[in-house]
Amino acid sequence: MKAYEKLLLENKAWAKEKTEDDPGYFERLSHIQTPEFLWIGCSDSRVPANEITNTQPGEIFVHRNVANLVIHTDVNLLSVLEYAVAHLKIKHVIVCGHYGCGGVKAAMTNHDFKQVLNMWLRNIKDVYRLHRSELDDINDETKRFNRLVELNVVEQVQHLAKTSIIQRAWQNEQRPHLHGWVYDLKDGIINPVFEMTAGTHIDPLYEYDDL
Ligand code: CO
Repeated sequence: MKAYEKLLLENKAWAKEKTEDDPGYFERLSHIQTPEFLWIGCSDSRVPANEITNTQPGEIFVHRNVANLVIHTDVNLLSVLEYAVAHLKIKHVIVCGHYGCGGVKAAMTNHDFKQVLNMWLRNIKDVYRLHRSELDDINDETKRFNRLVELNVVEQVQHLAKTSIIQRAWQNEQRPHLHGWVYDLKDGIINPVFEMTAGTHIDPLYEYDDL
């Protein structure tokens, strides 16, 4: 059997088991989608949103990319954000990074990963530059790497707060709350590192005054 065929086979077994446990399961899920959370995580296969939070289909709206970046020109991310905030009315946006992130690690090197990866990783190099003095003071390489993972998450949460999508929702509906989390591959634990409640003031340069 080919590897991908096993996936299809496992899927059939999973669907059968779900239906046996709860005959109305798929029928119910097909009619409603009211997740409370938007998850912006890393594409890394070891950090599956539902599994590590023990949540079910229907509970978390998910967007994943390399190193969980929030880039203000990324139409994909912004479409997900707009849909989740304005239409699904989600209450919490979680940016979840993870220690050992290959994207963050790559950005700490001077290696040419070729376009377009160089373009993508540039955003993480910019985070490093913003926190250069703190990071350069950390002698231990793993600790410096871990700290950049955390700072990257903080930065991405702040990027969310700079969007008119979030600012409009904050002004009109006092939601969503923004969270920056870091997952540890070594023990499976998520550490909250940053939070912005609805209405938090940010650098005035980025605040819209005519939403
Ligand atoms: Co990663």
